[in-house]
Amino acid sequence: MTQVLCIVGARPNFMKIAPIMTAFQTSGISAKLVHTGQHYDEAMNDRFFSDLGIRAPDYHLEVGSGSHANQTAEVMKRFEPVMLEENPSAVLVVGDVNSTIACALVASKLNVPVVHVEAGLRSYDRGMPEEINRVLTDQISSLLFTTERSALENLKREGIDESSVHFVGNVMIDSLHRNLVRAVPAGHTLGGNSDQYALLTLHRPSNVDDKSVLASLLEAVDEISRSLPVVFPMHPRTSAKVESFGLHGLLKNLHVLPPAGYLEMLGLMKSARLVMTDSGGIQEETTALGVPCLTLRENTERPITLHEGTNTLIGVDTNALKKAVSEILATGGKAGRVPEYWDGRAAERIAQVMKDWLPASMEREVA
Ligand code: UD1
Repeated sequence: MTQVLCIVGARPNFMKIAPIMTAFQTSGISAKLVHTGQHYDEAMNDRFFSDLGIRAPDYHLEVGSGSHANQTAEVMKRFEPVMLEENPSAVLVVGDVNSTIACALVASKLNVPVVHVEAGLRSYDRGMPEEINRVLTDQISSLLFTTERSALENLKREGIDESSVHFVGNVMIDSLHRNLVRAVPAGHTLGGNSDQYALLTLHRPSNVDDKSVLASLLEAVDEISRSLPVVFPMHPRTSAKVESFGLHGLLKNLHVLPPAGYLEMLGLMKSARLVMTDSGGIQEETTALGVPCLTLRENTERPITLHEGTNTLIGVDTNALKKAVSEILATGGKAGRVPEYWDGRAAERIAQVMKDWLPASMEREVA
């Protein structure tokens, strides 16, 4: 009998699920993997499975892209029959993507407990689709695992019972620890030996879906590239927007790459002078690596990266961005320290808690 159905859908889920599946196997928890297919391109998807050594999914729902409502509804429709067939004791979801809330909702409507890994993170920005996914997933989860202590305060404020929350650390950093030795050297990816470059990633709708915002960010980056080369692995959403807005000219001085694989990205982050990003995960990975990070967002749901790590919030203020880059080049930037429990053992802690929790939750169901 399957005890836990684990869900992945989009790129940032893969590095979170890999160490959890391994820890479950080691602890004798039987788990199956469901891939919703929210991300489907080779570069956004298959490569991560091979880079991270994740076994092939037991179910592939092949949902693909669509509007939020369409994508979420399609995941729900296709996941329900899997639930009915498997009848698992719990469904484990990670992060905050549309697949996370969609599968959590299906499970909770079937009275199957939901386990949420990376619970309690809040940007307090409801304009961000992920924030809605975070708040709602936490509300319908029975067991919540957090990456930083501030998450518990957020959850308590929303009325979640403290006894269901466990601070275990960061599973994404488990993957980083495990794979750093296998990272593809940046020189290999870039065809040279330079460690003098800034790394840029950009994909949030708030940054790339509006022509004037995207143009002004790319203009600033173009200017920065005159003092420090900029490497830019581009998300498919961003490529499509650059194309439709006719902004190609602003990329001519950048080292543009297709979306990088996990091991390539680790190598690129590790050797960068600084990273400019609007990703959630990269704020954490740069903190773990001790590389300065400038976040192109007005807020972050990962405040520990600001208070203890190497992260600085810039928003879309391009003067602030240029100034921050010059400061890092002059001083080396924020040194930071690695947060508590970001030690490569978060997934082990999750498996430990779940080993005790699973039989108890099954008894509750029978009663
Ligand atoms: C999703 C997550 C976001 C995460 C990001 C990482 C939600 C709401 N958002 O955003 O939190 O940071 O993944 O990448 O779940 N596309 C492709 N090939 C793919 C996948 C997407 O070409 O394999 C293109 C399509 O044009 C699609 C667009 O990218 O419409 C957006 O994809 P989608 O999955 O809706 O959201 P992301 O922007 O990737």
